[in-house]
Amino acid sequence: MKVVEIASFGAPDVLKLADRPDPVAGPGEVLIDVVAAGVNRPDVVQRYGKYPPPPGASDLPGLEVAGTIAALGPGVTSFALGDEVCALVAGGGYAERVNAPQEQCLPLPRGLTMIEAAAIPETYFTVWTNVVDRGHLTRGESILIHGGTSGIGTTAIQLARALGAIVLPTAGSDEKCAATRDLGASHAFNYRTTDWVAAAKAATGGRGVDVVLDIVGGDYLARNLEVLALEGRLVQIAFLKSPKAELDISMLMRKRLWITGSTLRPRTPAQKGVIAQQLRQQVWPLLEARVVRPIIHQVFPLAQAADAHRLMEAGTHVGKIVLDVRA
Ligand SMILES: NC(=O)c1ccc[n+]([C@@H]2O[C@H](COP(=O)([O-])OP(=O)(O)OC[C@H]3O[C@@H](n4cnc5c(N)ncnc54)[C@H](OP(=O)(O)O)[C@@H]3O)[C@@H](O)[C@H]2O)c1
Repeated sequence: MKVVEIASFGAPDVLKLADRPDPVAGPGEVLIDVVAAGVNRPDVVQRYGKYPPPPGASDLPGLEVAGTIAALGPGVTSFALGDEVCALVAGGGYAERVNAPQEQCLPLPRGLTMIEAAAIPETYFTVWTNVVDRGHLTRGESILIHGGTSGIGTTAIQLARALGAIVLPTAGSDEKCAATRDLGASHAFNYRTTDWVAAAKAATGGRGVDVVLDIVGGDYLARNLEVLALEGRLVQIAFLKSPKAELDISMLMRKRLWITGSTLRPRTPAQKGVIAQQLRQQVWPLLEARVVRPIIHQVFPLAQAADAHRLMEAGTHVGKIVLDVRA
């Protein structure tokens, strides 16, 4: 099969087209003929050598795919040959074939293309488990979402809105802020020109927000705690600036705040399967009714994965970048 591999760690050019033997589906796994693969920021970090795949996972980049089931490993009961699926994988998505644990596969949502479906798993699993399971966002509450136009951000805005929350994203330009409002944000703050703590407080009548979803870290910690309302929850899913920060413990206590965070990739198939079932029950109907949708910024042929990474690193995209594996 054709794959894109990380020939050595570094700039996008290290992504090289190569031939590899087809994987063989192991117990509980399905082999997927890949039609499209999503590109995510963690793939870029992996390409730099700073996000190694978990033990046993493919060394190839790619955390999500859509395609058709081509073979069933022993013990697979949930899917049949020829089923169209999208799947969360722990690596190996940039390839014509990939194995996925059956728990991490979901049926192609009715009415969506393979390109759209490939853009779903990584951000929908991540946003659901962090905003709902950990952040406990509920109807009528408010959420501040940093990086509102990222793949994660565009998913979080729509899901939070569908849950009945008031959504306040930040983004790096006025154009990006406008794009988040088109997705359902009530107010959006250009973090380069606006004091988003003051602006978010003003937008919530001085109360502050109930949940913050943060990817920035570093000195954002103090401001995230400041912008939270009493009993607010900070959910940390990345640290683009820095993993280290100073914590004002007294504010944590006075405002009775919670700080949490998580990573998705190292979790077991069973743990990911629990999230998959929640998505199937609660989010698949929203996708099929087009209440929420993957926002596709640009599609590249698999052989141009390096260009896809260049675009992601330029940071001008709104939503998802996808590889067309059949192009
Ligand atoms: N914990 C998990 O399980 C998990 C899973 C998946 C992804 N993630 C993380 O989530 C983040 C988003 O992933 P993605 O694939 O959606 O990435 P993405 O589409 O590339 O978006 C990243 C965006 O963050 C914004 N940004 C960059 N530096 C910033 C800064 N210093 N301050 C504020 N905003 C900044 C940029 O937009 P602006 O122009 O607005 O600055 C950029 O477009 C990544 O850091 C990724 O590693 C975590």
